[in-house]
Amino acid sequence: MSDIIKTGVEGLDSILDGGIVPRSTVLVSGNPGTGKSIFGIQYLYTGAIDEDERGIYISFEENRDDIRRAAESVGMDRWGELVEAGQIKVYDKRQMLKEGDFTATMDLLLTDFAEEEYDRLVLDSLTMFQLFFDDEQEKRTYLLKFSDILKQNGLTSLLINEQGAVFPETEIGLENFLTDGNIYFIQTPTDSGVNRYVWVAKMRKQNINTDIFPMEIGEGGITVFEKAGGFSMMGGDSAPGF
Ligand SMILES: Nc1ncnc2c1ncn2[C@@H]1O[C@H](COP(=O)(O)OP(=O)(O)OP(=O)(O)O)[C@@H](O)[C@H]1O
Ligand SMILES: [Mg+2]
Repeated sequence: MSDIIKTGVEGLDSILDGGIVPRSTVLVSGNPGTGKSIFGIQYLYTGAIDEDERGIYISFEENRDDIRRAAESVGMDRWGELVEAGQIKVYDKRQMLKEGDFTATMDLLLTDFAEEEYDRLVLDSLTMFQLFFDDEQEKRTYLLKFSDILKQNGLTSLLINEQGAVFPETEIGLENFLTDGNIYFIQTPTDSGVNRYVWVAKMRKQNINTDIFPMEIGEGGITVFEKAGGFSMMGGDSAPGF
């Protein structure tokens, strides 16, 4: 495994000064439709194809065919083939909710981590995962424990967070503090559609560019235009105005 894990989104990798530090857990936040799942798919797909790394995609939201269709909709045509070959393992909604019991579901995953070697993991979404817990304390304790398990198993992970606002009116969720990195996907409506942006708010041990950069979703997945120059959160004429 290389020193740094590329996300597979070129422009984002340069903002991150190369990629993500191995064994980090990165929280990926954004409103519905901002590209969180596509980012997760792209992360595992490019890892498999470019680096020959193995990935796990855990989804509480979609089934196996939906995920494959999402991959194919942005030209990641070999997704199905990689899943069949075991290069990418998918635990979909049906499997994750089948047991109806969190411990049994976790055992399934932990056994897999112990028996097989994986490099990358995507949890889609942490928000759904946390619904298994009744109170905040339990949620927090489990998140810490789960991050540890991921690290111990050598995984570099994206935890998807269905958090709307970049600056929420309520307190910033603890998951932002408990993870090694925070990436936000943002969309703002325009007359003809949406403008999309990405913001890396933190990445421990990395010299990141904390400006906000424009991005697009299309063939090949997400493209970040880091050369276009970012917008500072400190405002200024070119700020998109969040
Ligand atoms: N081939 C494509 N070309 C252009 N845009 C696309 C394409 N495929 C998907 N999109 C865009 O990507 C968005 C979906 O992204 P994605 O499913 O990753 O969002 P998400 O953040 O995971 O949303 P949710 O929170 O609802 O799960 C769609 O709303 C669509 O605008
Ligand atoms: Mg999604």
